[in-house]
Amino acid sequence: MTLTEVLKSRRSVRKFAPQSTSRATVEGLLKLTLTTAPSSKNVRSTRFIVVDDPSTLRRISAMRDFGSALIADAPCGVLVLGDGSATDLWLDNAAISATVLQLAATEAGLGSCWVHVNGRPRVSKAPVEGSPAEPAETAAEYLRGFLPIPAEWNPLCFIAMGYPTEPTKPHSEKDDSDKIIFI
Ligand SMILES: Cc1cc2nc3c(=O)[nH]c(=O)nc-3n(C[C@H](O)[C@H](O)[C@H](O)COP(=O)(O)O)c2cc1C
Repeated sequence: MTLTEVLKSRRSVRKFAPQSTSRATVEGLLKLTLTTAPSSKNVRSTRFIVVDDPSTLRRISAMRDFGSALIADAPCGVLVLGDGSATDLWLDNAAISATVLQLAATEAGLGSCWVHVNGRPRVSKAPVEGSPAEPAETAAEYLRGFLPIPAEWNPLCFIAMGYPTEPTKPHSEKDDSDKIIFI
C-alpha cells in the first residue's frame, strides 16, 4: 500500500471479527511507532499498555458512559500514555504516536478506533444543580483503579484494534479550501 492508500483506507472501525490479533503483530506495530513517531526533542515520551484479556477489555469499555462500549468486543487494544516526567509535551507526542499507530495498523490489515480518555469524565451528563460538589470521577482515574499505570504516565486514549468485519467506506469528499490559507 502507498501512504496515500493507507491514509484513505484508515477509518474508525467499531465492529471487529472474532479473530484474535497476535501479540507479535501488535508488538511489531508498537515498536515501529516508538521508533518512527516524531517527538519533541526526540524525547520519545509515549508509552503503551497492551490489553488482550477479554475481561479487562470489558472493564476498560466501562470507562465512559458514552463512546467506549465498542472496546468490549475488540480482541485487543492499546492504552496510549505520555510520560509526564519526560516532557511537558507528553500529550502532543502521544497524539502523534496514536495516529502513527492507527496508520501502521491499517497497513497491516487491522482496523482501529481512537477512544478518548484524557480529560473525559466517566459520566458525561453534567451533575444536576444542588448536587454535592464532589468532583466527578474521570475515565483516567477509573483506569488507574485496575491497570498497572505508573503515576507519571498519563493516559491519552485507548486504541481498540482488531480485524474489521467489512471493508471500510471511503472518506466523504468536502470542499475544505476555506480551511487553508496561503500567504
Ligand atoms: C481525539 C479523538 C477522540 C476520539 N474519541 C472517540 C471516542 O471516544 N469514541 C469513538 O467511538 N470514536 C472516537 N474518535 C474517532 C472519531 O469519531 C473519528 O475519527 C471521526 O469520526 C472520523 O472518522 P474516521 O476515523 O472514520 O475517519 C476519536 C477520534 C479522535 C481523533
